[in-house]
Amino acid sequence: MSRGVFWRVYARWYDALWDTGLTAAVARRVVQEVPPELPVIELGAGTGLVTRELAAARRVVRACEPDPDMRARLVARDLDVEQVTDESIEECHPPAGDCCVVAVNVLHLVADVPACLEHLRWMAGPHGRVVVVVPTAQATLGRVARAHRSAGAGATHSVLFLLAHVVLGPLAALAGVRLSPAPLARPSLVGVVGDVQEVHVLDGPDRPIDGWARAVTSVHAVTHQCQL
Ligand SMILES: C[S@@+](CC[C@H](N)C(=O)[O-])C[C@H]1O[C@@H](n2cnc3c(N)ncnc32)[C@H](O)[C@@H]1O
Repeated sequence: MSRGVFWRVYARWYDALWDTGLTAAVARRVVQEVPPELPVIELGAGTGLVTRELAAARRVVRACEPDPDMRARLVARDLDVEQVTDESIEECHPPAGDCCVVAVNVLHLVADVPACLEHLRWMAGPHGRVVVVVPTAQATLGRVARAHRSAGAGATHSVLFLLAHVVLGPLAALAGVRLSPAPLARPSLVGVVGDVQEVHVLDGPDRPIDGWARAVTSVHAVTHQCQL
């Protein structure tokens, strides 16, 4: 199975599985971490669940999503976003000035996480900011389903969520899509949402950053395998 086919299937089910109070809480937490004066570039925007909240609260200059099926759903939302592009994290270029780069649940899908973090910090500019959300080390399938439930999803959602991922897990493996998280070092951690999502903030290179070097080096030692 190709990656494209996997994402076509996932795109079809994505909102049914993830458009819950949990994702809304993650998106609100991300919005809190975006300085109001900075324009936003979102990478791996998917179907636009986080973009929706960002666009309502902040100036989103670019929402990037490389997969055509996921991007089609993002475009269909018709959000207040200046530009939607097909750029991947690796090939995304910076805007003219400082910005806030947002990447939610994307980092675990890239081949070289440290290089990606460096690229994001470069994109953000000297006084910019990077806001990254990754699954926590505790984010097993069961825990994520429970977190959705605690955030208001019903029992039907839990059954659908678990069943869908039992099917999607092997499909992802066949397609070579890595669905394991890349935990980051705790110094950049600013919050945990629903026990299963970590929010990290990394400031631009000209600001004193406690823990940036450790954040970059520690992701080399990814040991935890998430069941998602
Ligand atoms: C799990 S989804 C998350 C979507 C969205 N950020 C959200 O939280 O709802 C991951 C998204 O990242 C995209 N993606 C995968 N690899 C990527 C890469 N190298 N650069 C940018 N996006 C990527 C996928 O196409 C998919 O839409």
